[in-house]
Amino acid sequence: MALVNTKKMFEMAAKNGYAIGAFNVNNMEIVQGITEACQEVNAPVILQVSKGARAYANHTYLVKLVEAAVQECPNIPIALHLDHGPDFETCKACIDGGFTSVMIDGSHLPFEENIALTKKVVEYAHAHGVTVEGELGTLAGIEDEVVVEAGHESYTRPEEVIEFVQRTGVDSLAIAIGTSHGAYKFTPEQCTVNEDGILVPPPLRFDILEAVAEKLGDFPIVLHGSSSVPQDYVKMINENGGKMPNAIGVPESQLRKAAELSVCKINIDSDLRLAMTGTIRKFYNDNPSKFDPREYLKPARANIKELVKHKLINVLGCAGKADECM
Ligand code: G3H
Ligand code: 13P
Ligand code: ZN
Repeated sequence: MALVNTKKMFEMAAKNGYAIGAFNVNNMEIVQGITEACQEVNAPVILQVSKGARAYANHTYLVKLVEAAVQECPNIPIALHLDHGPDFETCKACIDGGFTSVMIDGSHLPFEENIALTKKVVEYAHAHGVTVEGELGTLAGIEDEVVVEAGHESYTRPEEVIEFVQRTGVDSLAIAIGTSHGAYKFTPEQCTVNEDGILVPPPLRFDILEAVAEKLGDFPIVLHGSSSVPQDYVKMINENGGKMPNAIGVPESQLRKAAELSVCKINIDSDLRLAMTGTIRKFYNDNPSKFDPREYLKPARANIKELVKHKLINVLGCAGKADECM
């Protein structure tokens, strides 16, 4: 089937208590690893492209790679989404250039300005059959060039969500409930130590998620910054010349719970980067004389595929759901 927008996926995810995985793509191996996993377990998927990805790989290359995946995986619905669209012009370029969904990220703007910008994007997008994600509240971490220091993030205010959704006409809403971007989501000081000596991050603010859901009913909610930072890959990186002390993510059990509630889209990028980097670092160390990129990109792609399969089955709950989302 052709690329789809996110309407049907979100409708089914909200109705049946699962979330769609939204994975960032920057090159062919990442696109292949993700979509081969989705095809194998029959899962719908959102492939998302950031401003940084467009700058790195070029808009046309990314669209063509995703179109190739659509052709190779004819039995699953695939949406192509702009992640953290910074302005109207970027959203318009993506809508005109083959994307089926865009995010306009006005979360750093005052409320009225966020509404005005988001509404402008929605009007253009909807006229072209493209769905739109807006955001209220700010996450800590780095999104493209926007750096929000820990402690300067702000949770979404449930009392604002109805007005935002109604006045903008968005199709989904990203909220801030304690997730953050990147591989360093929590400091060790913010964590508690469990009986096995493992650092346990503070729980997400499910009270805010529930308050938002009470206001919006089945309306699709999005979680950014939802990598769990698998410690096996952090260890692999650190044992093979890397230096990533105290990389800590959101526990998968928390994400599973969010997916069963009103969260319909969960964004995962850093975990795939860790899998790729760890695999390649280990390959270099184990095989110092090899220099053919295919030899290290092949296991990196395979590990991305395995990780995505795990997320689809055990975290998002969307394995086997492709047919109902068509
Ligand atoms: O939230 C941002 C995504 O992880 C994309 O990251 O801006 O480095 O492409 P990027
Ligand atoms: P992570 O950095 O937790 O993977 O979040 C990715 C994201 O939110 C992309 O928009
Ligand atoms: Zn994000």
